[in-house]
Amino acid sequence: MTRNRPSKHDPQSLSFDTQAVHLGNSIDAGSQAIRTPLVMANSYALPSDGTANGWSGFDGMIYARDANTNGQCLEAKLRGMEGAEDAVVFATGVAALHALFFSYLKSGDHIVVSEVTYEAVWKLFTQLLPERYNITATFVDITDLDAVRAAITPTTRLIHTETIANPTTLVADVAGLAAVAHEHGIYLSVDSTFTPPPIYRPIADGADFVIHSLTKYINGHGDAMGGVVLGKKELLDTIRYDALLDAGAAISPFNAWMINRGAVTLPLRLQRHVTSAQQVAEYLEAHPAVAYVAYPGLESHSGHELAKRQFGDRGFGGVLSFALEGDIPLQRRVVENLEVITHAVSLGHDESLIVFVGPEGRGGWEQYPEGFRTYGHFRLSVGLEDPADLIADLDAAIAAAVAG
Ligand SMILES: Cc1ncc(COP(=O)(O)O)c(C=O)c1O
Repeated sequence: MTRNRPSKHDPQSLSFDTQAVHLGNSIDAGSQAIRTPLVMANSYALPSDGTANGWSGFDGMIYARDANTNGQCLEAKLRGMEGAEDAVVFATGVAALHALFFSYLKSGDHIVVSEVTYEAVWKLFTQLLPERYNITATFVDITDLDAVRAAITPTTRLIHTETIANPTTLVADVAGLAAVAHEHGIYLSVDSTFTPPPIYRPIADGADFVIHSLTKYINGHGDAMGGVVLGKKELLDTIRYDALLDAGAAISPFNAWMINRGAVTLPLRLQRHVTSAQQVAEYLEAHPAVAYVAYPGLESHSGHELAKRQFGDRGFGGVLSFALEGDIPLQRRVVENLEVITHAVSLGHDESLIVFVGPEGRGGWEQYPEGFRTYGHFRLSVGLEDPADLIADLDAAIAAAVAG
């Protein structure tokens, strides 16, 4: 089959790796610099002719909270890479999630949410939105489509899930969930932070909204925060004009510029993240002191077959959870004895990051798999170091922890 000639001017003619390099960047008309410059300005000049009186209808850039040069470049890159009609960027991933919920849920509405999600989503729907705005939620096992269907009520507006759940690594069937949502005339929103493109593009499987914490893999260097909501333009206009302009969690131009630069190497970085995570997961699974390992790339994982179908040969992400057989002091000694892997929250950075969370966790953990409830869990984000160094570091730390 012959391919149309690829062109920088037609994002969809480019393969993913080429999109990652070229989208969101152009020759600067003023200086001829071949990289879009960082534009740190709060305001943009208004038209100087008579139409200036009507500038509120002016559709150029006006004020950096509404739109700014580097934010627009980042939106162009993310749109192309995700294969979405539109993208709206925010200051953080949580701001992007909140903007979506603020725009599509109102008092009296109901949402069906995966019972395992990033903590902020859990708190929004167990506490903040029900108490303050009478928005109610039913938490379900998102892998059980019958349970999802049964949870939908006449006031349900949205089903929300993560592609791979943080931290249990449970895998959601996005095409199945989209079919259930659309049967009921409601939307599906998917937080795809653990599976950035090219690993997965949930829109192709029917998701109406895709959210990423750009803070993680897409920036990839652990030095700038951001978030994005992607989807159809007609749906995203509400998010842009209500939640971005009037709630105001705009990304700084500097962070947009940093993330745009970081995303250039996303395809290359992901290859390393996924192959190293697989090696580390296999090493841990074979270790006699390890109680369990949750990583969708392992055949023992309940979502392995679905993950293979959904993510193809592009890998299973770079995050895994595990624990040692033993008490909390034993688990803590592992962290104390690591000399390469960094003890810190977050994921998707260049360096490997690990945190330990005890079995008491936060409320609502009764739904977590037994191993998590018995031993707690380490969440390990496998970075770009040589995987042999990571395995040697874990091996030495586990041996020291077991020796007491
Ligand atoms: C799956 C997921 N979604 C959203 C977020 C929130 O992103 P941010 O920290 O950029 O607000 C996180 C943060 O860890 C996450 O893991």
